[in-house]
Amino acid sequence: MSTEVVLARARIGLLGCGNVGSELVRLLTHQTNGPGLQITRALVRDPSRFRGEGVDVPFTTVTEDLLADRPDVIVELLGGCEPARQLVVDALSRRIPVVTANKSLLARHGRELREAARRHHVPLLYEAAVLAGVPFLGTFARRPLAAGAHALLGIVNGTSNFVLTQCARQGLEPQAALADAQRLGYAEPDPANDIGGLDAAEKLVVLLQHFAGREVALSSVETRGIGDIAQLHHALAAELGGAIKPVITADWTADLRAFAGPAFVPASHPLHGVAGVDNALLLETARGRLLFQGPGAGPLATAATVIDDVHEVVDGVAARPRSSLTPAGSREQKTGWLIALAGRLPSSLEIADYLSAHAIYIRRSTERHSADGREWQGLLTWPCARETVARARHGIEAASGISVGAIRALETLR
Ligand code: HSE
Repeated sequence: MSTEVVLARARIGLLGCGNVGSELVRLLTHQTNGPGLQITRALVRDPSRFRGEGVDVPFTTVTEDLLADRPDVIVELLGGCEPARQLVVDALSRRIPVVTANKSLLARHGRELREAARRHHVPLLYEAAVLAGVPFLGTFARRPLAAGAHALLGIVNGTSNFVLTQCARQGLEPQAALADAQRLGYAEPDPANDIGGLDAAEKLVVLLQHFAGREVALSSVETRGIGDIAQLHHALAAELGGAIKPVITADWTADLRAFAGPAFVPASHPLHGVAGVDNALLLETARGRLLFQGPGAGPLATAATVIDDVHEVVDGVAARPRSSLTPAGSREQKTGWLIALAGRLPSSLEIADYLSAHAIYIRRSTERHSADGREWQGLLTWPCARETVARARHGIEAASGISVGAIRALETLR
């Protein structure tokens, strides 16, 4: 009987073996299509931690051990900036291609990493960093004409979309919905990054690097979380013919305007039906509107995309990183607002007078509801600046003692 030695097509050094890393190991263990990808070693903080059935690879806590195997590709799934940044730079400088799903790293150090990749002529791929289960970045990296967009709009955080969807449709409490998202492996290790909007802002920064050619500091993106969104807001949004969604928007037709946070999305809008853990990205190009949609988080979707990136590296079809980015700050975009009023409401006339004195004009309103001596009502305004709304909001609260919430509203697309 002859013993056939089957050589792997490529040997992977894995940095990090959490939810996604463990799923990646399981997927590669069960690959059936001939000689495939083999993980030589995984760098982890705690080798003794049980990572589930079928996660059977050599672990190390020492980077040099991992590099001594001379892997063909490094897959970085540590998350966070350090030591991930240093390890990726080290790998690239040894001319080892890198695949990562780390949007925090790319948003903060994308320029350094891309320059290192270019300098050493090695691929750096990160398809799973944004819309984890939807391949599109690599395609656009190879197709500069198609990538010539001037605005984008999307839902890029699966956890917050899942939470808002569960709360709006099932009446769940946000904490319960978040616990489900954590159990399903959608949330970040610190879920405050999902709920507070940081994860979406990081992905927006990565998208702007790609599609706008701009290097934008995270601090310059207007970023809001979904932590204050309550059943009242979902009910008023539904009555006004829409839903609250965790969106990103950016327009760089002239000055860059970028926003990440909850928004009222009218039912006729393509993002309205993007529910649960699904993400979507809508690109406005000179040749029309492009829409990508699919799973945005989850170990399986993310690990599959990472593996495809490794195949691109191995097959030699990976696109080179974009050459240069222009530093840019972001300004505010004026939008309509969903204003949620609750408490002992002044008359409709008084509210309209007060708002118009602040140059805020009402476009539509819900019925005025009341129960147990409490009233509530939703208003949709014409576009105005956040500062204008904030001033009016504080003024009404101080004068009448009611509570006033304000959520940006997207326009229906034509
Ligand atoms: N926590 C992220 C999300 C994971 O929920 O979208 C995918 O990047």
